[in-house]
Amino acid sequence: MENAVLLEMKGITKRFGKTNANDHICLRLHKGEIHALLGENGAGKSTLMNILAGIYRPDSGQILANGERVEIKSPRHAADIGIGMVHQHFQLISTLSVAENVYLSMGRTDFVINKAAMEKTIRNYSEKFGLPVDPAAKIWQLSVGEQQRVEIMKLLCRDCKILILDEPSAVLTPQEAREMFKTLRNMADEGKSVIVISHKMNEVMENADRITVLKGGKIADEMPAAEATVDRLTRAVVGSRTLAETVRRESEKGGKPLLSIENLCAGNDKGLIALHDLSVELREGEIFAIAGVAGSGQRELAETLAGMRKVVSGKITLHGKEITKTNVRQRISLGISFIPEDRLQMGLVAQMNMQQNAVLKDFREPAYSRWGVLKKAAIRTAAENYVKDYDIKNGGMELPVGLMSGGNQQKLLVAREIHGNPSLIIAAYPVRGLDIGAAGEINRILLEQKERGACILLISEELDEIFRMADRIGVLCGGRLMGVRENGKTDYEEIGRLMSGEAV
Ligand SMILES: Nc1ncnc2c1ncn2[C@@H]1O[C@H](COP(=O)(O)OP(=O)(O)OP(=O)(O)O)[C@@H](O)[C@H]1O
Ligand SMILES: [Mg+2]
Repeated sequence: MENAVLLEMKGITKRFGKTNANDHICLRLHKGEIHALLGENGAGKSTLMNILAGIYRPDSGQILANGERVEIKSPRHAADIGIGMVHQHFQLISTLSVAENVYLSMGRTDFVINKAAMEKTIRNYSEKFGLPVDPAAKIWQLSVGEQQRVEIMKLLCRDCKILILDEPSAVLTPQEAREMFKTLRNMADEGKSVIVISHKMNEVMENADRITVLKGGKIADEMPAAEATVDRLTRAVVGSRTLAETVRRESEKGGKPLLSIENLCAGNDKGLIALHDLSVELREGEIFAIAGVAGSGQRELAETLAGMRKVVSGKITLHGKEITKTNVRQRISLGISFIPEDRLQMGLVAQMNMQQNAVLKDFREPAYSRWGVLKKAAIRTAAENYVKDYDIKNGGMELPVGLMSGGNQQKLLVAREIHGNPSLIIAAYPVRGLDIGAAGEINRILLEQKERGACILLISEELDEIFRMADRIGVLCGGRLMGVRENGKTDYEEIGRLMSGEAV
């Protein structure tokens, strides 16, 4: 027998200007289930969940909680009826401790925080649900995976019965994702219900009980996870669009040296050394992938090469010319482009619209400005070309990009960084948050760039993706380059061993 229906959405409709983000959506959530929400970028997943979380009010439709009609007026109100959401961008105060963050989120008004009691509550929940967090640790000391656990802890401490997570696994390592799903299963077993948004079909089929697929604001398909197949889900997500083929061709052996890194040392944000004596040479016309578990120095390497992080010692040479001390703008003009891992922190300005973001790097160029006056028509054309070429659904050229869907922000960022034939593309998780169709398309474009002669430094945690795309694979562990292997002359096992720091 199916468990009781905890929550029901009936005919939910939400429009933003001309965009029909949600169009008469009906969704049922049973007690004790993990319900996955899948769908192409801009399908309306986040919008629908934001309605449940009290951030948006629907234009029409009803929500029933335990069979009774509710109007969710605010996030606080959502919490009162037991609904909580972990957003893609965490909402934590980095200088405060875990316990203090949890306490603040509970909206308590006591003047003094009872630290011991708070820490005890957190420890209890940690144990009960298998969610290890140190209540006394400061947020800035935690990895992304740990911060996510704090976000989940906030919901548990508020006694939420319905937990919504927006693409929680996008920022996790495969190992962390497995642990998170174990925790979610524990919660479901306790009678809570969980809704997870994801683009990863295998993950969804393995971990969810039910799957709902959205497309263009409507339900495209829904099924018990046991009845799902990759084919059926792909059809529901992409519809009649054909998927881009990503066929990697061997790069020419002995492509010309492009970037040489010699004995590079650089620090991290905590003032510790994050890259130790790293030396490697990248060539024209190759995809060089960096494998490694999160926090092995990938971010520091990317930022150091992009000119955003100071080199402690060592030397970087591009086309035979030393660039170690050049700044970001100089490196951009030398043909280095950068797709950073946190798009809204580093790549895009959330408050600016598409056009402004499209020319963020080169608005000073004669094509876009003269005597300090912007050429609006040219800028608009540039942005419109990105929309067309990358199928970006932006909800209007004037909309701040912070309001675009996550995947469409990513497409804009990638489009801008690939534009203009850069010689080196530093691509950190370039397909993060993209639906299966868009991810294939971006991978195809990266392969095309390589054929053109560009070098791509691809940072990824997905070994499948690395083996599909890379010519050579460098493995980082604890800030050291453990080895470089040619794709085709190594296997998952060897790369895995190098990732864990074993010398092979
Ligand atoms: N506040 C807003 N103002 C205007 N348009 C919006 C707003 N929020 C969402 N939209 C639009 O509604 C549509 C659905 O967006 P939503 O964020 O729900 O998509 P999504 O399914 O979560 O996509 P993704 O997988 O890319 O995260 C998009 O076209 C988006 O541009
Ligand atoms: Mg979204």
